[in-house]
Amino acid sequence: MKDYKQQVADAVYQAIDGQLSVEEIAQKIERPKDLKLGDYAFPAFVLAKVLRKAPQMIAKELVEKIDQTGFEKVEAVGPYINFFLDKELVSQEILTEVLTEKEHFGDKTTGNKRQVPIDMSSPNIAKPMSMGHLRSTVIGNSIALLMEKSGYQPVKINHLGDWGTQFGKLMRAYELWGSEEEVKNDPINALLGYYVRFHKEDVENPELDDEAREWFRRLEAGDEEATRLWKWFREESLKAFTTVYDRLGIEFDSYNGEAFYNDKMDEVVEILEEKGLLKESQGAQIVDLSEYDLNPALIKKTDGATLYITRDLAAAIYRKRTYDFAQSLYVVGNEQSNHFKQLKAVLKEMGYDWSDDIHHIPFGLITQGGKKLSTRSGRVILLEKVLDDAVALAKEQIEAKNPTLADKEAVAEAVGTGAVVFHDLKNERLNNFDFDLEEVVRFEGETGPYVQYSHARAMSILRKAQKTVDPAKISGLSDPNAWETVRLLGEFPETIARAVAEYEPSVIAKYAIHLAKAFNKYYAHSKILVEDDQLEARLALVQSVAVVLKEALRLLGVKAPDEM
Ligand code: ARG
Repeated sequence: MKDYKQQVADAVYQAIDGQLSVEEIAQKIERPKDLKLGDYAFPAFVLAKVLRKAPQMIAKELVEKIDQTGFEKVEAVGPYINFFLDKELVSQEILTEVLTEKEHFGDKTTGNKRQVPIDMSSPNIAKPMSMGHLRSTVIGNSIALLMEKSGYQPVKINHLGDWGTQFGKLMRAYELWGSEEEVKNDPINALLGYYVRFHKEDVENPELDDEAREWFRRLEAGDEEATRLWKWFREESLKAFTTVYDRLGIEFDSYNGEAFYNDKMDEVVEILEEKGLLKESQGAQIVDLSEYDLNPALIKKTDGATLYITRDLAAAIYRKRTYDFAQSLYVVGNEQSNHFKQLKAVLKEMGYDWSDDIHHIPFGLITQGGKKLSTRSGRVILLEKVLDDAVALAKEQIEAKNPTLADKEAVAEAVGTGAVVFHDLKNERLNNFDFDLEEVVRFEGETGPYVQYSHARAMSILRKAQKTVDPAKISGLSDPNAWETVRLLGEFPETIARAVAEYEPSVIAKYAIHLAKAFNKYYAHSKILVEDDQLEARLALVQSVAVVLKEALRLLGVKAPDEM
């Protein structure tokens, strides 16, 4: 991609007397929001101090000295110099590049094929997957796709919550009230039911807790029956989770959960001991982190049981050894911020420099009617139900808009699930947001279906045109109505880079909305399918929009049906 900003910086540099370097100029150049102010603007007031002149003056004088070749015009407006790119030339360059590279437009090799484990989704066995886990799943998946586009090799790890004393309770509950049938039919609900019942009954029968502890002890000791039950519960739960993952089109590279680190924690404790980092505090083993302004990390409880962070220490070390990662990412809710600060701090204390490559990628909560969702309050939204409802709503709208569409079921599934995913990703990840299904599945407004619909509209124009565009023979587009769309197409590569740098899929989602809007505006103003000498150029634009919208949606994990 030609660097148009650099072209502007060079032009300014040649007109001044070395008061600023080209790099300094490039840093000051702005991208005006209003197209009437040009494509780039140089704030001449940054020279006011050295030149001891009024900024307006500077702008006026400088504009006379600037070589305007390659620009449509360059003009001084107040203290700014506005640069207008040559639309015909630039549109030709951008459209040629998009259609030559197609879905590879915007690919980078920044990552040098280095691996990046991404800890994502990570629901807890025998419990329903919550909307929080959904957020982690879709944000993590999009970040994985973005990293891959930047030349990294993402490794999607589902760090399942598959160990802990709750399994003792579950086993005792199953022993008392469980049925194999029930679990097989509806694993999550059956297991959750036993667990909930256990917590009701142990209020009156505290001996239940001792029995549960005994079951967990058996599990830890590798007892055959306990292990069989644990494996079975894990498998059945995973099957249920997988139906959701399948619908979202998400696969994992590893399901190594908490249990996987059972035999890897002793080493961690040994290293901590060797390095003199372990301290005793009220019978428990801790690492003091007051130097980091953090609470101590609790490594081993009084009863010798290891904790969540101990497992995560073992996991971090394991991942470094296994993947020799460039970065190691954890897409986990904001409420675990302190946990990850502690994790990084302990690793740092252990002398691992690579702890700086560990990044917690936090996200906010999904609320409903402004209220928090929580398992305890019973205010949980069940994921499958949400997806089913979204698909049903999408289907209604498709029936109304396009009753003869072939393959309605598949399109409705893509639009409904896509809508839920897109809605999640268009919000900056740290923001809390409200979930209102009707809002999410609307075909107008800033929604996934709107972007999908815009893509389908572009595809339908191309079908009607019955002409393929030869990327080697694209001529420039002179229609000023097309300019905003062309410019946005050219910004796709830098948009991806920003999304990657900030681990922020919303950058892509907002971009896709922006591009869809610009394209629809263009389509409303200009006739596309008219036989004249600009027809091919217009088709090249439509095809480029289709390519980039589809790729933007793909990076979010959302499908783009050709028709809807
Ligand atoms: N299972 C945990 C939960 O649901 C999330 C695990 C996140 N990953 C990690 N490596 N700690 O809260």
